Amino acid sequence: MTDININIQNPDNTITTLVAPTDMGLSLMEFLKGNDYDILATCGGMALCATCHVSVISGFENLHEISDDEYAMLDTLPNITETSRLGCQLKLADNMNNITVKIMGDGN
Ligand code: FES
Repeated sequence: MTDININIQNPDNTITTLVAPTDMGLSLMEFLKGNDYDILATCGGMALCATCHVSVISGFENLHEISDDEYAMLDTLPNITETSRLGCQLKLADNMNNITVKIMGDGN
């Protein structure tokens, strides 16, 4: 499979589904930014700014395990959830097909 579906839960709880390529080495952060979602990504994907914070609504169990660095960054956030991840640390791949995420980096 070269394309996967990524679902984004909007602030009004509707879902937007985007088709994402898995063969370009993109992270979820880069993909969402490229689709005009408002993610600052100040650190450029180094797990140092947490502005790419997403809460995974479904599909969390399919993701690769969180690294100590990613967790340490998330743990500084006031709005961390049990399924929080950094979008820059999630590389688009088959295991992310049909995942649903809510963008948290804007503080919502
Ligand atoms: S872009 Fe900075 S932590 Fe992900």
